[in-house]
Parts: sequence; C-alpha cells; structure tokens
Amino acid sequence: MKRTKIIDIFSPELIGTEVSVMGWVRTRRGNKHVQFLAINDGSTIKNLQVVIDMAKFTDDDLRGVTTGSSVHVTGRLVESMGKGQTCEVQAETLKLFGTADPETYPLQKKGHTLEFLREKAHLRPRTNTFGAILRVRSTLAFAIHKFFNERGFFYLNTPLITASDCEGAGAMFQVTTLDLNNLPKTEDGKVDFSADFFGKPTALTVSGQLEGELGATALGAIYTFGPTFRAENSNTPRHLSEFWMIEPEMAFYDIVDNMDLAEDFIKYCINYALDNCRDDIDFLAQMYDKDLVDRLKFVVENSFVRLSYTEGVKILEESGRKFDFPVFWGADLQSEHERYLVEEHFKRPVILTDYPKEIKAFYMKLNDDGRTVRAMDVLFPKIGEIIGGSEREADYDKLLGRIEELNIPMKDMWWYLDTRRYGSVPHAGFGLGFERLVLFVTGMTNIRDVIPFPRTPNNAEF
Ligand code: 4AD
Ligand code: MG
Repeated sequence: MKRTKIIDIFSPELIGTEVSVMGWVRTRRGNKHVQFLAINDGSTIKNLQVVIDMAKFTDDDLRGVTTGSSVHVTGRLVESMGKGQTCEVQAETLKLFGTADPETYPLQKKGHTLEFLREKAHLRPRTNTFGAILRVRSTLAFAIHKFFNERGFFYLNTPLITASDCEGAGAMFQVTTLDLNNLPKTEDGKVDFSADFFGKPTALTVSGQLEGELGATALGAIYTFGPTFRAENSNTPRHLSEFWMIEPEMAFYDIVDNMDLAEDFIKYCINYALDNCRDDIDFLAQMYDKDLVDRLKFVVENSFVRLSYTEGVKILEESGRKFDFPVFWGADLQSEHERYLVEEHFKRPVILTDYPKEIKAFYMKLNDDGRTVRAMDVLFPKIGEIIGGSEREADYDKLLGRIEELNIPMKDMWWYLDTRRYGSVPHAGFGLGFERLVLFVTGMTNIRDVIPFPRTPNNAEF
C-alpha cells in the first residue's frame, strides 16, 4: 500500500479507506483496552491520531512504542469523535522502525525552552515549534524564487570564496590551506600567500553583490540567494556569522525603482507565507506572539514611510528619548534608533535613504551634496534593518575616487571597475537578510531559532 503523508490525510475523500502512514510518535496514552498514539511525519503541524484496539494487539506489539520512536501504521481512516481532530486511523498493523529510549531521548515532555532546544539543535526540528519554523523558512525561500522568476530576473550564483571585501568592513573569515604551524614566509617576514592554495589571500564572501553587478550589467536583472559569512564578534539576537542573503541587482534602476522593488518583494513574501503556511503561523502566534498575524497583515496592507537619514536623525534628536548610543548627524544608526522610528514614531516600516558617505560602502552613488550617498535601508518593527541597498556609483572617475579615498587595494578591483569602463549604466540593488525575514514572519525573537544550525561566535556545533 502506498504511503500517505499526514498533510494529505485530512481530506474527506480518504475517509473510510485503508491508509498507510509513517512517522514519529509524539505521545502515547490510553489503558489496557485501547491505546492512542499521536504521530507526526513533519509534513504538517498536525498530528494524526492512531487508535489501537488492544483486543487486536499484544503488549509485546507495542513494546518500544514511546515518545520519539518511529512507526509504520496501516488501518482504516475514520471520522474522529475526539475533539481537535477530524479523522483518525484504526490500526490494523503496526511496525516499529526505531525505538527512542525514554531514559535518554531529550524531547520527552512538551514545553522545553528555546534555549534548551538550541543545545539540542540536532533534534529540535522534531518539535512543533521548529517544524513550523522550518516549513515557513522553506516556503519563504520558494516565494523568493517565485517572485523574481515571475518578474524575469535571472538567478545568478556568485562565488563563496573571494579575494575582495565587498562591504569593506574587514569582517571576513580567511580561507587557507597553509599549515598554520609552519607558515611560509617572504623575505621581509610576512606570510607568503603566493604559496597558498589560490596564490593569494582569500576569504569567505560577505556579499555576492560585486559579482551580482557583473550579472546585472549583462543580463539586465539578476538575484543571488546564498550563504554569506561575517566574522563580526557581535553576539546579538539579530546577527549570525553565517547567514543567507538575497541580493537582486538591476540595470537601469534608480533608487526609487529600487525602493519600489524592495517594498513589493517583502510584501509578496509575507503574503505568500500567510497564504501557504497559515497553520504554522497560527501555531507560532498562539505559542509565542499573539499579535503576529495582525503585524504581518499590517505590513502587507500599508505603504512604507520613505524619508532621508537627515530627517530621521532630526526626529531622533527631537524625540527627547535617552538612547544608549548618542545620535547625531554622521552617527551610524543603532537598532534602538531604527526601532524608535519604526515602532514608536511612524508605527510602520520605514525606508531611510541618503546616508552620510562615511558610514556606507564605497560603491554607493554619491549625491550632489558630496556628503551623502544614495543608500536605502529598510527598517522593520521588532527587527530593525531587514534590507540594505543603494543605487550604485556608475561614474568611473567618482568610483575610482572613492576606492582611492578608502585605500581599497586597486589591483583587486580592476574587474569591478570594468563595469564602469565599458557600457556603464545606472543600476541599483539591495540585500535582504533571509533569517531576518524569517524572524519577522515567524514572530521569533532570536535569529538562532530560525536557521537549522546557527553559526555564532564560539558556536559551530552540529
Ligand atoms: O547591509 P548589508 O551589509 O548589505 C550588503 O551586504 C550589500 N552588499 C547588499 C546589497 O546591496 N546587495 O547586508 C544586507 C542585509 C542586512 O540588511 C541584514 O538584513 C542582513 O543582510 N545581515 C545579516 N543578517 C544576519 N546576520 C548578520 N551578521 C547580518 N549582516 C547583515
Ligand atoms: Mg546594512
């Protein structure tokens, strides 16, 4: 008999038929006449109830059927009398795949803390919470590809190993095959990277943008979606050392086109999750965040506020609020500032533009004032910055000027500069931190809980 996934079992036409289901036992209860198993196979938040008539089975048949064990059940699907479920299986056969020793299986009882589950990251996908989060994450990833595909964007794969520092923040993980205990040295005593695997220093990429610009200035509109790495020592609920980023890059777009796309994009993804993961989102809302669905709908239904950094700083200065980090024109905004603008002042998402050039990366288009660049950050309730992007500097001389000002090694940048030497066009793009989107949609508050195996300072377990 063909196996039916539990997500497909709750359809009325299967009532009265024989079904074959496989899954993990979440709970077992009952008495000597009848036993009930709740089984889950990961396809849905819903468990399937299996009713075991002990007139047909022996205690031996059920030995080892405990929380966490895995089973194969066949039987008739019938309408359920019990509350909270529409149907159940009356078991005819039951086979145990694998036991889970009740003495050691860590997910015995319900109601573990998220902190406890982080230490059991290898098993936490079997909980309701992490099943829901991982299904939402997967659905959002699909929505992202669908959004860009429907708009004629091409999916471009940019390298993970690179010799350039896109964001210029110097927060890169080195990649080397040199023997760290016996480093080859040059005559002046420095490490001889010509002996290294790539013949020069390399690192894991912080962003696929620079190569993305090569793609956009050939294919017109591209997006990347892949892992990026940041060796920042920031232990916050919003930073990971390894996170996934989506970076669209578009030729012939200015900053306004870029903002329009970013707003449409986020709203599309949130809507898609609401339409396709409602059971999971409702579960998470009920467990962790009663306002979740309202917040998601609010963001989808209302336009984002757009204002300049200069105006934003003015609002913060005039707020009378005492911030941990001082705010003044030229300061890099902290999450407390961003959240004040979004959650307290405007009470909706904000796109802040035209930041001082000193606090932004070298590639952003310089405004006529000579002091600000055509940057745009999308700021979200509970999250702060969810997207960072800009219109790019398309003028060869101005870009070269910035590269020189910032002492970026020119020899590493020749290929990037060629986009401005040959058929340069106005273009723009942005990066969405995937885990920050998943945080927002699931209502979770710690980024470690929305990626299967988080990488953070001092943590590379699993
Ligand atoms: O603002 P960022 O650093 O921008 C870039 O990397 C540009 N190259 C993007 C572009 O224009 N193509 O990063 C973009 C987004 C942030 O807004 C944030 O959502 C996320 O990436 N992000 C992180 N997410 C998790 N952990 C971290 N350490 C992150 N750093 C950035
Ligand atoms: Mg940023």
